[in-house]
Amino acid sequence: MKAQRVSLWLVAAMFFLCSVHTRGLRRCLISMDIHHIEETFQEIKKTIQAKDTFQNVTILSTPETLHSIKPLDVCCMTKNLLAFYVDKVFKDHQERNPQILRKISSIANSFLYMKKALQRCQEQRQCHCRDEATNATRIIHDNYDQLEVRSAAIKSLGELDVFLAWIDKNHQGPSAA
Ligand SMILES: *[C@@H]1O[C@H](CO)[C@@H](O)[C@H](O)[C@H]1NC(C)=O
Ligand SMILES: *[C@@H]1O[C@H](CO)[C@@H](O)[C@H](O)[C@H]1NC(C)=O
Repeated sequence: MKAQRVSLWLVAAMFFLCSVHTRGLRRCLISMDIHHIEETFQEIKKTIQAKDTFQNVTILSTPETLHSIKPLDVCCMTKNLLAFYVDKVFKDHQERNPQILRKISSIANSFLYMKKALQRCQEQRQCHCRDEATNATRIIHDNYDQLEVRSAAIKSLGELDVFLAWIDKNHQGPSAA
């Protein structure tokens, strides 16, 4: 009897923690319109993905990375990946086409804004980072570093749809499912 009550309590506590943490992402990115960013990306997706010559490898979508992230780590993982794009991918990518560049810059500005919002949240202890997110982030950086820098940047840009869909799913949270 006692053990049962303890485990029920644990389940309730876990549920509470998980919902607090996925709500954390929503609260931190309260005014973000992820769909608008997805629409911007859709306009350049074909052109970007056509330049990706290593279709047989992935940077974001390995089983150990985005797909294994628990609700507790979603906020931190989002923050780390926004930093990955802002500090690495957007800087490494050289775009000659001004129209494409304009779209990429628009996405980069949104990412910078979101990154700052999540950093503020982390300072307020609402976006906690555990080893799980740190390790998954390291795997993504390792995948990136294994490719030549231009190929890595274009591939990561091509995988923005994976990242945006993942943010969107977690941003809406379980209540919207
Ligand atoms: C992916 O394809 C490239 C070029 O076709 C090749 O050089 C590379 O070894 C392949 N990588 C894997 C992991 O299969
Ligand atoms: C994270 O990686 C370190 C070093 O590889 C490892 O010792 C640790 O167990 C990993 N932690 C998790 C939670 O995966």
